[in-house]
Amino acid sequence: MKSAIAALVVFPLLAGSVSAEEAGPADLAIARSLATMLQSARAVISVNQDRINDPDIGDKGLTGAVVLEAAIANYEKATGRDPRAVDPSSYEGLLLKAQMDAVVEVVEAQQATINAKGTGFKGLIPATFGRLVNEAFAARVGTEASMKVTAPPELVRNRKARADAFEAAAIRDYLQAADWPKGQIYSAIVTEDGKPRARVMVPEYYVPSCLTCHGGPAGELDVTGYPKEGAHEGDLGGVISIGLIPQ
Ligand code: HEC
Repeated sequence: MKSAIAALVVFPLLAGSVSAEEAGPADLAIARSLATMLQSARAVISVNQDRINDPDIGDKGLTGAVVLEAAIANYEKATGRDPRAVDPSSYEGLLLKAQMDAVVEVVEAQQATINAKGTGFKGLIPATFGRLVNEAFAARVGTEASMKVTAPPELVRNRKARADAFEAAAIRDYLQAADWPKGQIYSAIVTEDGKPRARVMVPEYYVPSCLTCHGGPAGELDVTGYPKEGAHEGDLGGVISIGLIPQ
């Protein structure tokens, strides 16, 4: 009888299409650290957006080193830690180093675009930059970890950002649920290719500055040429999805 009641109580947790076992505190700490570094680097592109878009300036001085230094300053402000001081032989240190190297690599590869005189909007915006950084990160770390920015299916612009089955279920069943606490991370330990994997989903919400592109009127083209989604401030706009070897 007792076990029957226990089964009844446990069942709703297992009924969702994603596992109920959460990632451990070390996994969550590393995921938060990587998400913060991505956000810190994207923010550098954001504050320099007008400069990047200025057709009258050629060399903008936004080298890989300059962007990385500003990203590190943002990260330090957010966490109180110097990301370069994290032991590079530790799992977190290795991943942070790969991320910082990826930031430099992407900015260097974009120099001709950034410094193009006579062109206003160049298509280099925080979301695109972040995707390129995550791709460069993937090339560096292989199967050690993964990072991607995904979004609810109705919002996805770039096919590469489409959610996989785990991400789609986590967004639908948890992050978009009316009672999901704003900002709370969703995580689970899953099995991928026969190995345990910590999957961590860090939600991001639209703020007013996003709505010039993602807001209304729905269907109208934004400056990047994509139809606006008609989203509202505070809506779940996307998720930083991180895959880690459980620690
Ligand atoms: C200048 C227009 C513009 C602004 C402002 C903007 N975005 Fe986007 N966003 C885009 C474009 C274009 C893409 C596709 C980028 C790519 O993959 O190259 C995109 C992609 C995304 C993605 C990745 C999923 C996808 O659809 O491909 C998320 C999440 C996202 N934006 C959220 C936000 C949030 C949150 C803000 C505000 C902090 C914001 N965006 C501000 C234009 C914009």
